[in-house]
Amino acid sequence: MLRSNAELWWAFFAGIFITIAYGAVVFYTREIPAAGELFGHGIGILGFTLMLMTEILYSIRKRVRGAGWGRMAIWLQFHIFTGLVGPYMVLLHTSWKFNGLAGVVTLLTIIIVFSGIIGRYIYTRIPRTLDGLEIEGTLSEAALRQARRFMSLWHTVHIPIGMALFISAFAHIGGAIYYATLLK
Ligand code: HEM
Ligand code: HEM
Repeated sequence: MLRSNAELWWAFFAGIFITIAYGAVVFYTREIPAAGELFGHGIGILGFTLMLMTEILYSIRKRVRGAGWGRMAIWLQFHIFTGLVGPYMVLLHTSWKFNGLAGVVTLLTIIIVFSGIIGRYIYTRIPRTLDGLEIEGTLSEAALRQARRFMSLWHTVHIPIGMALFISAFAHIGGAIYYATLLK
């Protein structure tokens, strides 16, 4: 069970720190950092790495229910932290241009973050142990059944969006490296 909002605060502070760094670059160069140049490229790669961690690590942890791996609640908090900070960095990477496939990848990124926020809300409605297992709680039987139904419906939307996002992101990365980096 998620018992605090700590990960949202950490993400908020990380966001402020990243915004200050971005602002400093804009201030000193008097330009919006280009997506293919040092700062814009770097922040894109870092942000995408965090997004990949978001996609992969929690799913792995969920499938190895065992001692010694740390609480599920902590892993979900880490999932949410990287799932907010990574997309924010990628957003600053775009240089605020959203043409073609890269624009579609950005849109899918925004959709998955909003979907995640909705999922977090439904997830925390269901009483759980710190290891994510459902337990008896304050919800009435009918409300619990409804929350479970929403949660599984939500999974069937959130997971394919993630897959579409990563397939199109890899196509964007391949294309961007080929056209904007190798052919330069
Ligand atoms: C989900 C992750 C990512 C998103 C949403 C994204 C989005 C974008 C967007 C919107 C642009 C601007 C396109 C335009 O000019 O209209 C762009 C440019 C670019 N991206 Fe990404 N990007 C992501 C990850 C990456 C990664 C990991 C790399 C490098 C390995 C990368 C390399 C580039 C390059 C080199 C450009 C500049 C292309 C040019 O100058 O024409 N991107 N990206
Ligand atoms: C880059 C962004 C994100 C990606 C790629 C992503 C991907 C995923 C994936 C693949 C799962 C399924 C895990 C599994 O059942 O194996 C998942 C679950 C989940 N995600 Fe995300 N997510 C992202 C961002 C977020 C954000 C921002 C939040 C909350 C604010 C969030 C909240 C959740 C919740 C609550 C679950 C369900 C946990 C469970 O049922 O065990 N996600 N996410």
